[in-house]
Amino acid sequence: MNTDKNPQKIKNMFDEISKYYDITNNFISLFSHKRIKYSAIKNLKIKPKSMVLDICCGTGDLTGIISKLIPDAKIIGVDFSQNMLEIAKQKYKKIAFLESDVTNLPFKDNEFDYVTEGFGLRNIENRQKAIKEIYRILKPDGKFLHIDFGIHNFVWKCFDLILPFFIKISKISPDSYKYLIDSKNTFPAPNELIQEFENTDFKLVEVNNYMFGAICAIIFVK
Ligand SMILES: C[S@@+](CC[C@H](N)C(=O)[O-])C[C@H]1O[C@@H](n2cnc3c(N)ncnc32)[C@H](O)[C@@H]1O
Repeated sequence: MNTDKNPQKIKNMFDEISKYYDITNNFISLFSHKRIKYSAIKNLKIKPKSMVLDICCGTGDLTGIISKLIPDAKIIGVDFSQNMLEIAKQKYKKIAFLESDVTNLPFKDNEFDYVTEGFGLRNIENRQKAIKEIYRILKPDGKFLHIDFGIHNFVWKCFDLILPFFIKISKISPDSYKYLIDSKNTFPAPNELIQEFENTDFKLVEVNNYMFGAICAIIFVK
């Protein structure tokens, strides 16, 4: 399987697909990803004036939703793909975006009330290092929201059919979207992922399922 997650390769891949990223997401999620992201952020119940970090922010979907729903939160978006960040900056001119690898974040310990990550952890070679880094920068009682593919059910399998069709009709390099399928299929199911977080001392707060659980939003507390 083509799941080489060498950070430089991942960064180059997202730099290359950045122009098509938003439109592709609309099609492959059957236009449901924005609704899911809004709902997951609402369930996090971010308090006013909180410090929030959106890691692997990409083109800034979650970052933008947080700033719209909680306008007085102090929100920063972080990603290591310069081209994805450029699009985020164009879309959300008032939000602070920072180029950084999430396995080595330029923040002090216990700095954030909330950290969010949508469809990011799946692309990180050293997942354990990223989880430890999230734990380090969260305040005690701070919360982490993780959104990604979830239970391996019939909807989850449907993505394997939609994606090759999309690759055929789009101009996107087939390798990038083959990688997406392979990374989905090798990413731990929610129960295994929860165990990984609990091994780093996170405590599970709640799980919210979308598309019959094929997309899963998990909230942890430090
Ligand atoms: C699938 S996109 C998700 C973007 C956005 N969160 C969303 O929900 O649409 C994954 C993003 O993670 C970023 N990424 C992957 N590994 C990273 C790392 N080690 N450090 C920082 N960003 C990373 C990629 O550059 C890409 O923009």
